[in-house]
Amino acid sequence: MLDRTDVKAKGLADLPPVESDSLLQLIALAEADPRSDKIDVGVGVFRDGSGRTPILQVIKQAERRLVETQASKSYLGSAGDKRFTELLRPILLGEHAYDERIVGLQTPGGCGALRLGFELIATINPQARVLVGTPTWPNHPPIIRSVGLEMAAYPYYDRDRTTILFDDMVAALSEARPGDVVLLHGCCHNPTGADLNHDQWAKVTRIIVEGGLIPFVDIAYQGFGRGLNEDAHGLRGILAACDEVIIAQSCDKNFSVYRDRVGSLFLKTGSAEASSRAMAHVHQRAREMWSMPPDHGAAAVHIVLEDDELRAQWHVELDAMRTRINAVRQRIAAAHPMLTFIGGQYGMFSMLPVSKEQVLRLRENYGIYMADSGRFNVVGMSDEQIDRFVSAIAECIDG
Ligand code: LMR
Repeated sequence: MLDRTDVKAKGLADLPPVESDSLLQLIALAEADPRSDKIDVGVGVFRDGSGRTPILQVIKQAERRLVETQASKSYLGSAGDKRFTELLRPILLGEHAYDERIVGLQTPGGCGALRLGFELIATINPQARVLVGTPTWPNHPPIIRSVGLEMAAYPYYDRDRTTILFDDMVAALSEARPGDVVLLHGCCHNPTGADLNHDQWAKVTRIIVEGGLIPFVDIAYQGFGRGLNEDAHGLRGILAACDEVIIAQSCDKNFSVYRDRVGSLFLKTGSAEASSRAMAHVHQRAREMWSMPPDHGAAAVHIVLEDDELRAQWHVELDAMRTRINAVRQRIAAAHPMLTFIGGQYGMFSMLPVSKEQVLRLRENYGIYMADSGRFNVVGMSDEQIDRFVSAIAECIDG
């Protein structure tokens, strides 16, 4: 018989408090603010000139078609919609689309792809370190920690000098150990908006090859920077040079299907056979975590990409989102000499050289919600709000 002990077993009530995710907290704070003129430039969702995040017309059409034609909701398996992943290949991989050493599967958003990719690394080599640029998306470190991998920082961007710390990045990556994983943002760097240029990508790629490192490219904003092909330039150069590559991709932003969670994970190894073996591990990990990805959003994207007319219309809608992002950037850049740098950056985010106290003051005095780091979503505000945003920032910077 088991002895009863005086030691009390831990229960759910013993769990320590959790520090809430700062970006999700910001959504709730902004929503709760009753001021009608509040400006929410916190979380990364595209808003149009009137401040709305509309569902793309092509997605609406695809959804209608889906409702009319979908014959079954039976299981698809842990790879999700295989045709969806095939249709993404030319968009993401370009000239590498037909490389049989590159294999992929559908995931719940880019976040699911990241988690799955790091799960795979932890399966192969639990001693691998993941080199993460500073700063990075605040959810990268928790995802990496959750699979038990060690992390090491490399310098990426100096917020106050608004510049990429390329020499420091190169020095840090040059000291990495073979088998270390280098996490890179494919385009539209989150949170800085500061992307590597072609020469810098070439140099980083060379260091990765020479150092025997594994590149892990997170590409969540393809099409929001310079265009679908140009935004994948760095990734495709890496695919050309490296035998082993992991890619976490997201359609959540470029198809504006955020809450539907639409993403994919691709990996490349030195042979088609090794890639299919690695993919079997990926399927197993996916099965353990979410079994199968949600279908609806990927099914809608599948319909858009399969249909020439809808696909062409998607390009028009994507171009319109990018045009707005870049136009707002130019407007902000022109408004104050200290904001000029914003005009030379890409994607939804840039970082303002403001202190936490200034961020708080902007929130309290002006109803402007941005991350504590000074990261703000350039298209979080409507056209009408831009002038007020810029003058509040100018007042804040000028003291
Ligand atoms: C962001 O960075 O704001 C987005 O990627 C949303 C998120 O999940 O954090």
